[in-house]
Amino acid sequence: MLTQINIPSSVDSTPIPGDVAARIASARAEIEAFQDRWDRPQIEQFVAADYPLVYQCLNWTLQFQPRLGQRFLEWGSGFSIVSAIAADLGLNAFGIEAEPDLLAMGRKTIQTWNVSVELVEGNFLPPGAAELSDDPMLPSLSHDVADAYQTIGLDLDDFALVYAYPWPGEDDFHEFVFDRYAASGALLMLFCGPNDVRLWRKTN
Ligand SMILES: C[S@@+](CC[C@H](N)C(=O)[O-])C[C@H]1O[C@@H](n2cnc3c(N)ncnc32)[C@H](O)[C@@H]1O
Repeated sequence: MLTQINIPSSVDSTPIPGDVAARIASARAEIEAFQDRWDRPQIEQFVAADYPLVYQCLNWTLQFQPRLGQRFLEWGSGFSIVSAIAADLGLNAFGIEAEPDLLAMGRKTIQTWNVSVELVEGNFLPPGAAELSDDPMLPSLSHDVADAYQTIGLDLDDFALVYAYPWPGEDDFHEFVFDRYAASGALLMLFCGPNDVRLWRKTN
């Protein structure tokens, strides 16, 4: 079962260190340049989150919520900005992404931020998880890529905190997958759109 944890609405007024804010701003500029390119197809599933707000929510979670450990996983890491933030906050960060062009941009982010993140190409859905969806058209089911957990050598229940930005309408499915495969006590953070960051704990 997942139990929702209320992140106070005042979280968006908590301070962000100047160097982090500057790195986020320059990553946003890189994303815009990537999305403005006309010489190759757009990767429609990649949409940028509100990274200052995600930073504030992650920082709040680390300060006020007990955690099973230090391992953090970003499902569908895109430009890996949230993984980089997590590593900057002291977590042992991993990112899984299906699209090779995004992984390349993620590697650039990690290098620029000078943080340690293990980025893996593959599927963040554990084998068998697709069966938890009653809609075969969900975007996260469309990736015919290898199981990333086998590459990492860890399972979903080895992670203390998972972050994802689900496509609209996929948040329930992400919650079902987490509830089925994560460790009891682990945390799931979902960025679901402007001013909508949800935090859950698996409670049994
Ligand atoms: C809305 S974007 C969010 C990117 C990033 N997490 C962020 O917040 O900036 C979702 C990402 O998940 C990736 N993705 C979707 N389904 C996936 C799957 N089953 N396995 C791996 N990556 C997936 C997409 O390619 C896309 O980059």
